[in-house]
Amino acid sequence: MSAAFRPLHPAFAAEVSGIDCRGPLHRDEVAAIEAGMDTYAVLVFRDQDITDEQQLAFTRHFGDLERHGKGGHIRKDIDSRLAPGMADFSNLDRAGNIMSAEDRVWFFKLGDRLWHSDSSFRPVPAKYSLLSGRVLPSWGANTEFADMRAAYDALDARTSAEVEDLVCLHSLIYSREAIGFTDLTEDERESFTPVRQRLVRTHPVTGRRSLFLSSHAGAIEGWTIPEARMFLRDLTEYATQREFVYSHEWRPFDLVIWDNRTTMHRARRFDRNEVRDVRRTTLGGDVATIEQVSV
Ligand SMILES: [Fe+2]
Repeated sequence: MSAAFRPLHPAFAAEVSGIDCRGPLHRDEVAAIEAGMDTYAVLVFRDQDITDEQQLAFTRHFGDLERHGKGGHIRKDIDSRLAPGMADFSNLDRAGNIMSAEDRVWFFKLGDRLWHSDSSFRPVPAKYSLLSGRVLPSWGANTEFADMRAAYDALDARTSAEVEDLVCLHSLIYSREAIGFTDLTEDERESFTPVRQRLVRTHPVTGRRSLFLSSHAGAIEGWTIPEARMFLRDLTEYATQREFVYSHEWRPFDLVIWDNRTTMHRARRFDRNEVRDVRRTTLGGDVATIEQVSV
């Protein structure tokens, strides 16, 4: 059986049938999924009751895993519930209990509810993220995606010219500061040193341009901070209008893949007394946006 795509949104996001993500893929299947990613940017695979090992193997079909070096989180690797390569986006602690509402790891995780692109705070930001829904709460917890290609295409001429060559600074410090979480150690602050990212990216395969926005962006080179923050806030509001957004309502064992180069996403609220066990694998990008040739 070969991959078939059913659009979930007029401009992007599709549900894929005909693929079993648990086993090895034929290279034609890999090529079909990659082509689907280039077209839709968000793909949903239903009923994939997958193990961590299978998720890691599936992910590696599309590139190299992002190296989880210093600087991605305040939680130390030793406190992780999951094996290396698996990122824990659950509300569970290492022992499998629901985190305390006072846990600073929980505070940190709440920042994922702001619109962002994964790892935009790393010098070479992530390519794809793959999120597997293992245990889902009974209410809420949608993941919303916004199409930054469509948002770029719809910019008015003046704004389009204005963003063309802008370089932003991204850091986890900025996104956590936005929700009032500033209680970071000196070590954490040092590991979250801001990185430079172009505000306009060009997709390496399709050549389509997109806005590279993220709540991690907190400054624009050559601009004052208030001017930069207001401009980024305005752009984010514009780029996440409903027409550019697909809201994913999770079913158990959905596997969702998105391209961080061309989309933003955010988590939505749920009852924190219920378990949400979702696990992410991430593919590293191949080039710093700053080195990308402006076309
Ligand atoms: Fe994320």
